[in-house]
Amino acid sequence: MAKRVLITGASGLLGRAVLKEFERDGSWSVLGLAFSRAGDKLRKVDITDKQAVNNVMQEFKPTVVIHSAAERRPDVVEKQVEATQALNVSATHFVCQGAAQVGGSVIYISTDYVFDGKNPPYKETDIPNPLNTYGKSKLEGEKVALAEGKDNAVLRVPILYGHVEKLDESAVTVLFPKVKNTSETCVMSDYERRYPTHCDDVASVLRQLAEKKVEGTDISGVFHWSGDENMTKYDMAIAMAEAFNLPTSHIQADKNPSTGTTRPYDAHLATSRAEGLGICKQSKFREQIKPALEKFFP
Ligand SMILES: NC(=O)c1ccc[n+]([C@@H]2O[C@H](COP(=O)([O-])OP(=O)(O)OC[C@H]3O[C@@H](n4cnc5c(N)ncnc54)[C@H](OP(=O)(O)O)[C@@H]3O)[C@@H](O)[C@H]2O)c1
Repeated sequence: MAKRVLITGASGLLGRAVLKEFERDGSWSVLGLAFSRAGDKLRKVDITDKQAVNNVMQEFKPTVVIHSAAERRPDVVEKQVEATQALNVSATHFVCQGAAQVGGSVIYISTDYVFDGKNPPYKETDIPNPLNTYGKSKLEGEKVALAEGKDNAVLRVPILYGHVEKLDESAVTVLFPKVKNTSETCVMSDYERRYPTHCDDVASVLRQLAEKKVEGTDISGVFHWSGDENMTKYDMAIAMAEAFNLPTSHIQADKNPSTGTTRPYDAHLATSRAEGLGICKQSKFREQIKPALEKFFP
């Protein structure tokens, strides 16, 4: 099978890491798609436009599609329900149908927010029960991906961090301005349990899955990947401060559930299916957070 990968959302936080991983050694032909940040290497394709998606699929003929583009901010989703449906669900139809027409299969990126967070850890076979519109839209996208191609896969991941262009690009790195501002008290959630996961790890897992696919291993169905450190946002903020030798006394723990869009308490993803295939890559938060934030310090 030819090694031709098309990556949607290649200008995004995860997509950039995925693009880099597949370009690493030149063994894959790679095409990255973007929308508002298209340019140089990234082709502008509005994936909510069925014809535009078909055209790029017919031209590039991917054997594997990593479908990463989505609206992933739960608070934005609650305000933009129709636009989210178009991007997270309808566009997933177009991507999967376009890929199927050229014999390609799709790995759809999903989220731990498809679970209600009441009974962790969650296996790939556990029944999802999303609490918010974002989680519901991603679950609907999963169902589309799995229905549109028998070889398609879903990879669910939790909160991501990595080499951000702007601090507000990740729900982890967005905490850093308050951590750095040691003269002002800040309150950080110490309630919901999270498993911050480095984008480079997810990119590596996706490449390992894609390599297995072209070697003939069945990778259809649902996979989970996750960092293995259980942390609240308060824990992450303290780890950031310690990484830069900053004081921590201005960071206060909020033991109450977060306000705003309802979020799961602890949607820890068990990664046994991927590990059973020999797939691995789990970075340590305290080692990786400093390189991710260094360019924003002081
Ligand atoms: N970030 C997290 O913590 C997290 C956690 C769990 C799961 N996920 C999932 O991981 C995936 C990647 O998330 P991310 O954080 O990398 O997202 P992101 O940084 O917000 O990137 C979103 C991507 O979607 C593209 N896009 C938006 N509208 C488009 C359109 N109409 N046509 C084509 N492309 C469009 C954007 O392109 P432009 O910027 O060029 O417009 C961008 O590349 C998503 O499926 C998300 O649900 C993310």
